[in-house]
Amino acid sequence: MRILGIESSCDETGVALVETTGDALPRLLSHALYSQIEMHQAYGGVVPELASRDHIRRVLPLTRQVMSEAGVSLSDVDVVAYTRGPGLAGALLVGSGVACALAASLGKPVLGVHHLEGHLLSPFLSADAPEFPFIALLVSGGHTQLMRVDGVGRYELLGETIDDAAGEAFDKSAKLMGLPYPGGPGLSRLAEQGNPAAYKLPRPLLHSGDLDFSFAGLKTAVLTQSQKIGPAAHTEGAPERADLAASTQAAIVEVLVKKSMTALKTTGMKRLVVAGGVGANRELRAQLNAACAKAQVRVHYPELHLCTDNGAMIAMAAAMRLQAGAQQAEARYSFDVKPRWPLHELA
Ligand code: KG4
Ligand code: ZN
Repeated sequence: MRILGIESSCDETGVALVETTGDALPRLLSHALYSQIEMHQAYGGVVPELASRDHIRRVLPLTRQVMSEAGVSLSDVDVVAYTRGPGLAGALLVGSGVACALAASLGKPVLGVHHLEGHLLSPFLSADAPEFPFIALLVSGGHTQLMRVDGVGRYELLGETIDDAAGEAFDKSAKLMGLPYPGGPGLSRLAEQGNPAAYKLPRPLLHSGDLDFSFAGLKTAVLTQSQKIGPAAHTEGAPERADLAASTQAAIVEVLVKKSMTALKTTGMKRLVVAGGVGANRELRAQLNAACAKAQVRVHYPELHLCTDNGAMIAMAAAMRLQAGAQQAEARYSFDVKPRWPLHELA
């Protein structure tokens, strides 16, 4: 069975084709991605209306590219999957509308996918795929969650952020340091030249005893610290700026690692899966690798280029849901989107 996946929830248009054979893990045949980041950089963040319009421009050329790279024609697609939520309403409507129109014209069924489930299952696309059950650390621009995952569609929320997401903490701190949107990758590159112990920043909820996160206070502490430092905090080449970046990253990473290890310990799980854009962070990976090796826990990541939003994870999640019998693809083309959609509400 061949499943086409379309992602358009935020500022990346992604299209991919996966193939399933029996119960074996679905195989990625091809995928294509267009990132709008450059367009949004001029505004310091994503402009929803511009995002929607650009998805419209990109989605069909990307689909053609995916089909031609896979050497498959559209009539050989069995199911068209799309991101139904959460995300920007207008952006979601583009992918959903195109997916439903395409499927209707081909006489094939459609399947709406939860964006976070896409991230969660994206490590199954890597050579070192995990096995159920596991603890998942979902760290993206909009979400920070720890989940217990017992199988496809069997997700129990263990803890989540009560305010900003980890990606947001990276992005907002990076903005204070004069780095372009989205600041996570830039901040982490800058941090490599800095001293992580240079500035004392808070580790919010580190000892709260639960698995919740809070990053809003950290952002305020970074602001206060940058005001104390003065212009050097956002001057290219200033050692203070690199030190502030390293100290900020150290605070975020320490909390993420500590809570992940607590989740593993309290549930007795021996496997951790990291997903979402912040999962690309090198320091986070290094520290999780070290902590997991010590605790004899296997840790899995998506391939670096599949950490941030992409179509492959949407096609993959759809394929795995179909294989598990968690959802049927339906030839019903009236669609809705769910801009807000907690993952644990997914059956
Ligand atoms: O998963 P994602 O592509 O989009 C959402 O669904 O939100 O995640 C984007 C987030 C942004 O906040 C970005 O700054 C962050 O992931 N990010 C990183 C890195 N690469 C992406 N944060 C820290 N270090 C990185 N290397
Ligand atoms: Zn995402």
